[in-house]
Amino acid sequence: MLYHLCRKPSDGVIIPLLKSLTGKRILEVGIGSGYYTRYVMNGNKVCGIDQNPHLCQLPIKVYKGDAARLNEAIGEKNFDVVMSMWMTEYLNHEQLQTFLCQSRQMLSGGGMLLTTIIADKGMGILYVTAAKKLRHIAKYCYNISVVEKMTRQAGFNSVEIKTLNARLGLSWAYLVSAQI
Ligand SMILES: C[S@@+](CC[C@H](N)C(=O)[O-])C[C@H]1O[C@@H](n2cnc3c(N)ncnc32)[C@H](O)[C@@H]1O
Repeated sequence: MLYHLCRKPSDGVIIPLLKSLTGKRILEVGIGSGYYTRYVMNGNKVCGIDQNPHLCQLPIKVYKGDAARLNEAIGEKNFDVVMSMWMTEYLNHEQLQTFLCQSRQMLSGGGMLLTTIIADKGMGILYVTAAKKLRHIAKYCYNISVVEKMTRQAGFNSVEIKTLNARLGLSWAYLVSAQI
């Protein structure tokens, strides 16, 4: 239901962008089963990190680790792209800021961060509220200007934020593309 209502329309924006990446060294944070990895695996060098690395059965290296402690799990720091889809909703404000800073540190010059962040409006609020009330899972949504400020504070100079809409045009998340 959530997939069809929210994620599928967002994929119309995210997947073409991922398919356009070639020849990049990519770190995927919160890789899960590798749903989005499939779109970047061919033609790029990809590795992942997740608190639950066993979820990913793809033939790539997946580190076990925390998004807010990337530097402890991953030795190399010369990625062209750090991407993270539908993971930041598990991060509170402090963890999100740390994740953004750590992503910046993982990138080489000209590198890019691509991440989704749940919006504090429309379906975004409904989604985090339902997670708390019905499933007792703490999820977080953010204001667009706060996201921009945090991304710049992490050391990114060029920050582009696209609103991702759910069905019926209800906003629910952002796609942040940020470059050093
Ligand atoms: C909703 S799933 C998304 C998986 C995949 N990116 C996708 O879009 O299909 C969130 C993933 O983030 C991972 N995750 C959540 N919090 C994390 C954290 N603090 N550090 C690393 N991984 C985390 C979970 O284990 C899970 O695999």
